[in-house]
Amino acid sequence: MSPDTPRRRAAVVGLGARARLFTRALAGPYADRFELAGFCDVNSRRMAVHNGWLADADPGRAPVPAYAAEDFDEMLRRERIDLVVVCSVDRTHDDYIVRALEAGCDVVTEKPMTTDADRARRILDAVRRTGREVRVAFNYRYNPVHSAVRELIAAGEIGEVGSVHFEWLLDLRHGADYFRRWHRDKANSGGLMVHKATHHFDLVNWWLGTRPETVFAQGGLFFYGDEAGRRRGLARDYTRAHGSPAARDDPFAVRLEDSPALSALYLDAEAEDGYHRDQNVFGPGVTIEDDIAVLVRYATGATLTYHLTAYAPWEGYRIAFNGSEGRLELLVEESTWTPSLVPANGSDPVLHGAETADTVGRTELTLRRFWEEPREIEVATGEGGHGGGDARMLDDVFGTRVPDPLHRAADAADGAHSLVTGLAANRSFETGLPVLTRDLLDL
Ligand SMILES: NC(=O)c1ccc[n+]([C@@H]2O[C@H](COP(=O)([O-])OP(=O)(O)OC[C@H]3O[C@@H](n4cnc5c(N)ncnc54)[C@H](O)[C@@H]3O)[C@@H](O)[C@H]2O)c1
Repeated sequence: MSPDTPRRRAAVVGLGARARLFTRALAGPYADRFELAGFCDVNSRRMAVHNGWLADADPGRAPVPAYAAEDFDEMLRRERIDLVVVCSVDRTHDDYIVRALEAGCDVVTEKPMTTDADRARRILDAVRRTGREVRVAFNYRYNPVHSAVRELIAAGEIGEVGSVHFEWLLDLRHGADYFRRWHRDKANSGGLMVHKATHHFDLVNWWLGTRPETVFAQGGLFFYGDEAGRRRGLARDYTRAHGSPAARDDPFAVRLEDSPALSALYLDAEAEDGYHRDQNVFGPGVTIEDDIAVLVRYATGATLTYHLTAYAPWEGYRIAFNGSEGRLELLVEESTWTPSLVPANGSDPVLHGAETADTVGRTELTLRRFWEEPREIEVATGEGGHGGGDARMLDDVFGTRVPDPLHRAADAADGAHSLVTGLAANRSFETGLPVLTRDLLDL
C-alpha cells in the first residue's frame, strides 16, 4: 500500500476470546492498512484486558478507546469508523451489522452471521439498501486441505457429485465447552446446528457450488444436561466450577483460576455482567442438542448425510464425496484422544481450533477415481488455528485484495445460505418433518 493511502479505521465489537485474532492482526501485521480505533462491549474489564495485551506486545501504544454497548453508534461517529469487526455473542451480531452498515461502514462478522431468519433478512436488506460490504469469517474455507477439496471437485476429478457423507466429532474438551457458557441457550447461539454446523454447511455449499433446498433432521440432548448426567452418574452438584468443591474432581469442569488468560477475560470480569464461563455441563438450563443427524437435498440434486456429535473421545471429521467418476475421502484428526482432567493452561478451551497441539493426529485426503489405484493427495497445512486457515483468512479480509480462483471470500448471501440449513434442521427437530429452506428464508 502506498504510504500516502490513508489507513482505514476499524472497530471491534465483542472483546472476548475470539476477538484476539482480529485485534492482534489489526494492531500487528495489518497496522499499515488499518488503525484500530474503537472497542465496544458490555464488559469494560474485557476491553481493558485486550488493551493490556496490545500494550504487552507494543509497550507505549495508546489504549484503543473503549465504548459501552449502548454507545456503539456514538463510537462509529466519534472515531470515524470505516470497518466494524463483529465478535460478540451470536444473537447480537445482526444488530451491530445493520447499524454499522447504516452508518456507512463495511463489516467483517464472525460466524454464524446471525441466529434466525428475521435477523438474516434484516442484514440482507441492509446490505442491499446501503451497498456496503459484509464479509463472514468462514475461516474453514481457508484451511489448505479444504481448498484442495474444492480444487479437486472443481477440476472434475470425481465427476459430478451425487452425494456427500460428512461426520463431525467434537471431543470431550471442545464439545463440552459449548455447554459451559452462553452457547448452551439456543436463544444465544441458535444451537450447534447454527453456531457450529454453519461452518460445515457453508463448506458443502462452497465445495459443491450449490444451495440447500430440503432439510430433514433429528437431534437431541443425549449426553450433556442435567437429566442425562444424572442418569449416567456423571452429574456433580454444583452450578459453576469456580469455588465449588464438587467440581474439583469433575473432568468436565474448566478451572478458570488455573489460567491467567481465562481468569483475566472471564473470572475477573464477571462482577460486571454475571457471565459465568465455567458452568456445569450436567446442570439445568441446556436447550441445545449434542447429537444430530441431518439429511439435505441441494439444488444440483446432490444429497448430504451429516452427523454432529459433541461428546466424542477424539476430535475431527470424515467426509466422503461420491461422484460420477470416483470418490474423494477426507479424514482429519484434530485430536486423537481427550486427556482426562485437562490442565487449563490458557490455550485450552478458549482458543477453538488452536487447541490441538499435543494430541493432534493425521490428515488424509484420498482420491479414488474409477478403475485407478487410490491416490493420496499431499496438502501442506499451515501454522496457527484451523490448519492455518485463520491466518489466510485474515490476509484475505485485511490484506491487499487479489483475485481468488477458489472464491473463498464469503458474503452475507453465503452467510444466509449456510444459516438456513441449520435453521431448517432446528425446525425439523420440532416438527419431525422435512423443511423447505425457502419456507424459512427465500434467498
Ligand atoms: N470462526 C471460528 O473459528 C470461531 C471460533 C470461536 C468463536 N467464534 C465466534 O466469535 C464470537 C465470539 O465468541 P467467543 O468465543 O469470543 O465468545 P466470548 O464469550 O469469549 O466473547 C463474547 C464477547 O461478546 C461480548 N458481548 C456480549 N453481549 C454483547 C453485546 N450485547 N454487545 C457487545 N458485546 C457483547 C461479551 O462481553 C464478550 O466479551 C461468536 O460469534 C463465535 O461464534 C468463531
